[in-house]
Amino acid sequence: MNYLFAIVIPYAAAIIFLIGIVWRVVRWAKAPVPFRIPTTCGQQKSLPWIQSSRLDNPHSTSGVVGRMALEILFFRSLFRNTKADLKLGPWFVYGSARWLWLGAMVFHWSLLIILLRHLRFFTEPEPALVSLLQSLDGFFQFGLPVLFATDLLLAAALAFLFLRRLIDRKLRYISLAADYFPLLMLGAIAATGVLMRHIYKVDLRQVKEYAMNLARLNPSVPQDVGVLFYVHLALVCVLIAYFPFSKLVHMGGIFLSPTRNLANNSRARRHINPWDYDVKVHTYEEYEDEFRPVMIAAGLPVEKNERIEAKDAD
Ligand code: HEM
Repeated sequence: MNYLFAIVIPYAAAIIFLIGIVWRVVRWAKAPVPFRIPTTCGQQKSLPWIQSSRLDNPHSTSGVVGRMALEILFFRSLFRNTKADLKLGPWFVYGSARWLWLGAMVFHWSLLIILLRHLRFFTEPEPALVSLLQSLDGFFQFGLPVLFATDLLLAAALAFLFLRRLIDRKLRYISLAADYFPLLMLGAIAATGVLMRHIYKVDLRQVKEYAMNLARLNPSVPQDVGVLFYVHLALVCVLIAYFPFSKLVHMGGIFLSPTRNLANNSRARRHINPWDYDVKVHTYEEYEDEFRPVMIAAGLPVEKNERIEAKDAD
C-alpha cells in the first residue's frame, strides 16, 4: 500500500496531468482565430486626436501585456463586478460587488504562497525566496511551529467562496458539482496540511527526502511518515489528475485566450482570413428567380414582380 500511495499514484497523477494539459493546449491551438477578437471596454485606437484606452482596448503588445498582468495579478475585471438585485418596490437595482474580488484575491495569493513555500520539500538548499516567504508568512510568531498567515487566509477565503455558492439563491441555482468539488478538495488538502503541521506532526526530514527522490525520478518509499501525510498526498494527486479536465485549467487558459491575448489593431491593419475560400452561395435574388411564380401564387411578397419585369422587357 505504501508503494502504491507513495510512488504509483503520484506518478500516475503527474502523467495524467501532463497528457491532459498537452491535449488541452493542442485543442486550444487548433481553434481557428482568423480575426482579432479581444474583449474591449474602452475607446479603440483610431485617429490621432481621439484619445484611446491603452489598457481597456489595447492596440499594441505592451498594452496587451499590461492588461494581462493586471488581470492575472490583481483580477482587474473582477474588481468592476456588478450584481443585479430585485428590491422591494419592485426595483431592479445594480450595485458593485467587490466581495468576490476580495475573496478571489485572498484565495489565489494565499494558495500561490503556500505552494511556493512547499518548494522547501523539493529543493536543497532551499531557495532564498522560499525562506523569505516562510519568515514573512510566519510574522505572527504565534505558537510552535509558527502559524502561517496564509493558512488562516486560505481557510477563510475557501469558506467564503463555498458559502457564497450555498447562501446566494441565484448562485446556488447555477452552481454545479464541478464548482463545489475543487473547493472541497482544496479545503481537505489544507485541513490535512494544517493538522500535520500543528497536531499530528510528521517527520519533515523523511518527507523532504521522499519529495526530492520523487522529483529526481528515483523514488523511494518514506518510512514512518504517518497516514495523514498519505491522505494529504492522495488528495493532492486527485486534484492534479482532475486539473486539466476541470475549470481549474483557467490557470493556463487565460494566457491562450484570444479575447485577452490579442491587440485590437483592426483599424490600423487589415486582417485577412487565411482560411478564406470561395464559398458557393445561393443568393436571395437567385432564390426568388427560381421560385417567384410559386411565391406570388402563395401571396408571399417578392422583390421583383412580374409586371416590373415585363416593363423592363419592353
Ligand atoms: C495542491 C497542492 C498542495 C496544497 C494546496 C497544500 C497545502 C498545504 C497546507 C495549507 C499546509 C499547512 C501548512 C503550510 O501552509 O505549510 C500543508 C502542509 C504540508 N504539506 Fe502540503 N499542500 C500541497 C501539496 C503537498 C505535496 C505535494 C506534499 C508532498 C511533499 C505536501 C506535504 C506537506 C507537508 C509535509 C505539510 C506539513 C508541513 C509542516 O509541518 O510544516 N503538500 N500543505
